[in-house]
Amino acid sequence: MLVQLVSLFAFAASSLAVPVADITSLGYLRCSSEGQVTGYLSKSLNSAGEYKGVSPDSDPNDVNHRMLVSLDVTATGTQSLLVKNAPDNDYPFLGGIGGEEGSTIGSNGDYLHVGGTELTASGAKPSYCGNTYTDRTNNLRKCESAVWVYNSTTSEVTPRWTNDDGSVVDANIGYVDASFVLTGDKKEFEDSWSDSVEWITLTFET
Ligand SMILES: *[C@@H]1O[C@H](CO)[C@@H](O)[C@H](O)[C@H]1NC(C)=O
Repeated sequence: MLVQLVSLFAFAASSLAVPVADITSLGYLRCSSEGQVTGYLSKSLNSAGEYKGVSPDSDPNDVNHRMLVSLDVTATGTQSLLVKNAPDNDYPFLGGIGGEEGSTIGSNGDYLHVGGTELTASGAKPSYCGNTYTDRTNNLRKCESAVWVYNSTTSEVTPRWTNDDGSVVDANIGYVDASFVLTGDKKEFEDSWSDSVEWITLTFET
């Protein structure tokens, strides 16, 4: 399915103004692990306010359960992904949310949750933006929405997180206990938390 939304913002004030096209596409986020498709991001949250996964094998009607996101296919830096079928419209973006050890990741096993968040600016440090994890668990956690980088050659969507000190980390996506984590170091995460994690590649599928 491919739906393209084109908004044109023309500025009438200046005769030299050129219309700017802001092109977003709608699609699903397919999950692969070690080259095999394992499912899709789901539009559903668990009781802790984390997004779940959908398995194509266990659920024949999984299209109805997939998360539908709006993505700017022309953007090269970090962008926010609007969840078009979000279960909680107060937190409509797919974002990263601070984990048990805080909102900085890197060379240790620290991780972030993946849930619904408010909009934050590209490159901004973690802030106390509203998010589904804090809402459901009453644990105050920082978050960011503009953490996704789209590669138009491969259609891959990868997470790029800005830490509390402003350092930027290209993160790994893990799938563990039926929810997603973002972490800086796979081996350290496995040693610290769980070695039953699946390392996920996300692909935008229109
Ligand atoms: C997209 O992915 C390809 C293959 O991994 C890589 O060679 C290329 O540099 C990536 N493009 C960007 C803009 O990162």
